[in-house]
Amino acid sequence: MSGIQDKVIAITGAGSGIGEATARLLAGRGARVMLGAPGIGRLHALAREIAEAGGTVHYQSLDVERPASVQNFIDEAQAVFGRVDVLVDDAGSAAASALGGLHLTVISPEDVARAITGRCASMSAAAVDTG
Ligand SMILES: NC(=O)c1ccc[n+]([C@@H]2O[C@H](COP(=O)([O-])OP(=O)(O)OC[C@H]3O[C@@H](n4cnc5c(N)ncnc54)[C@H](OP(=O)(O)O)[C@@H]3O)[C@@H](O)[C@H]2O)c1
Repeated sequence: MSGIQDKVIAITGAGSGIGEATARLLAGRGARVMLGAPGIGRLHALAREIAEAGGTVHYQSLDVERPASVQNFIDEAQAVFGRVDVLVDDAGSAAASALGGLHLTVISPEDVARAITGRCASMSAAAVDTG
């Protein structure tokens, strides 16, 4: 066995967003995916879609803030698939994260270019210093 084919991959936060996309991608490449998130309805719909496309999938409600729930999730994956090879720990919400409270300033492409150029200049200066 090599690559993704037949790997058992447990994915937290698999109900939407990045976790959902990751589950689709990995199942499409032959991994056996174990899906977890609080919302069982979304997991059920995704699991059905993956299975109908020929993938191997199982799912269970999961709350990563409760250790017992995490243990049950991993135990269930091992019971169904025999092992867990990879954990993709994606649970969370970008909207609810600390970033959501920040006031962001839009940076122009020129500012980005200046920052990179400045960094390159200081890097070469450092290289000269140490050389
Ligand atoms: N999107 C971005 O641009 C971005 C950028 C950098 C980092 N991230 C990080 O990547 C992660 C996923 O982002 P996303 O945009 O894909 O978020 P998302 O669409 O809101 O999906 C979050 C997933 O996590 C699940 N979840 C929420 N709380 C959970 C918990 N306590 N236990 C288990 N699962 C839980 C949600 O379940 P339900 O659907 O059942 O609520 C959902 O399936 C977040 O940690 C986020 O901070 C995102």
